[in-house]
Parts: sequence; C-alpha cells; structure tokens
Amino acid sequence: MLFAIISDIHSNLEALTAVLADIERRGITTIYCLGDVVGYGPDPAECLDLVISRTEWCMLGNHDYAVFYEPTNFNFAAEQASFWTREILETKGVEKQKHRWWTFLGELPMRRNIKVKLGGYAVSIDFLHASPRRPINEYIFPDDVYTNPAKVRVLFDRVSHICFVGHTHVPGVFLEEPDFYMPDELGGVYPIVSKEKAIINIGSVGQPRDRDPRASYAFVDDNELHFVRVNYDLETTVKKIKATEQLDVFHAERLREGR
Ligand SMILES: [Fe+2]
Repeated sequence: MLFAIISDIHSNLEALTAVLADIERRGITTIYCLGDVVGYGPDPAECLDLVISRTEWCMLGNHDYAVFYEPTNFNFAAEQASFWTREILETKGVEKQKHRWWTFLGELPMRRNIKVKLGGYAVSIDFLHASPRRPINEYIFPDDVYTNPAKVRVLFDRVSHICFVGHTHVPGVFLEEPDFYMPDELGGVYPIVSKEKAIINIGSVGQPRDRDPRASYAFVDDNELHFVRVNYDLETTVKKIKATEQLDVFHAERLREGR
C-alpha cells in the first residue's frame, strides 16, 4: 500500500504544486488531506480545485471551518484572511466552480478511519486535523510531552492505533510514554508496527513552522511512514500575499524562515 498525506496548505499554491509534483514523481496516486486547505495565503480557489481533484478525501480544519461558518479564537490577521477568502470564493469563478468549492467545504468530515495491512501488519489509521479529542481545534505541541504529559496520555486513550494529524505545522511522532520525535531524530522514517500507538504530525505544506521553510508532507510505503520536505518558489507566494491588502504581511515574511 502506497499513499501520501498532506495538510495545512493554507492557500499556498506554489507549495501545493511542488508537493503534488513530488508525490507524482514517486508514483503515488492516493492522497489524503488533513485540512486547512485555505487561510493565510493568496490562492484559496486554486488550492481548493487541486485538493478536490487530487485527493481521496479531506478532513475539516479550523481555517476551513472559519471560512464556511465563522472564525473562532482567531487573531485579527487570521480572521481578516478568513473573511477575504470567503469573499474570493463568493465572487471569483463561474457558478459551477463556486458551487463545488462551497459544497466541498460544507461537507468536510472531522474524522475518518481505515483498517489496512501495511507490510504484513494489521493497522488502524485515524485521519483528523488537530487532535483526537477536539478534532479541529486542539494543538498537540511537542513540548506537551514534558509540560503536560497527562494531556498527551488522555489523547492516546482516544486513538486505537495510528492517528495522522496536522494543525501545529510541526512534523514529528508522538508516542504513548509520552514522547516526541522530530523527523530528523528518526532518520525521516517511522516504522508502523502492530503494538505501538502513534500520533503522527505530518507538518504543513503551505505554512511550515519548524524553522524549515520547505513544504512538508508524508507518505506511507509498506509499513514505513516517510517524512518529506520539498523546496518551492516561496518568493512568488510572498509577493502575492504582499500584493493583497487584506492578507497580513507577517504571513508572508514567516514563510522565508518557516516559523
Ligand atoms: Fe493550519
């Protein structure tokens, strides 16, 4: 079984295009998305079109929720970006396209599960945006394993085996002890086995925040989860954000540092 997982695209078309090309180059045709297709960035319509046509399914992220329903607990800049995105999706494109975008956003699920065989191991995989307890809003930070281990254990009680998440934009693997491993500490690969539970953050395509500006995604081949980073033309994205008055320049500048 071979599939890729992408998340937190945040209307960054250049990053999404580069990631999809990398996935295609590897011969991977099955792609799952964990949400936050929109928000912050300059190309919501184009990113929605690509996610709709190229992925098997997509989970509901807090920024997708914000555009379709309302922003909750957003700072001013994120809220502004949501309202701008809503305006673009209401006014851009032909009726058929608009209908497709809004139907897609309105039908995004909060959680999906598949049961598969990976390299001989029976594996149950949950897909969701943020956390198994609050699937669109709770952050699971790497520091939580030290500062709030009880929280991480409680989250593992809600996971049957493997759970893929995004939301913090920081890739890595949480284990039940609790423990957290950055992709580099694992040599970029986590072996999925029957007995070990893991919450795996696959990082962000369009707004990485682990001080690596390259787009992040992951793929599963046999029982191995591979973390991948991809260079993309971020200066073009920066320019587009800066050219849009309603988008905060901070969301452009931070792309250069991946923070
Ligand atoms: Fe996000």
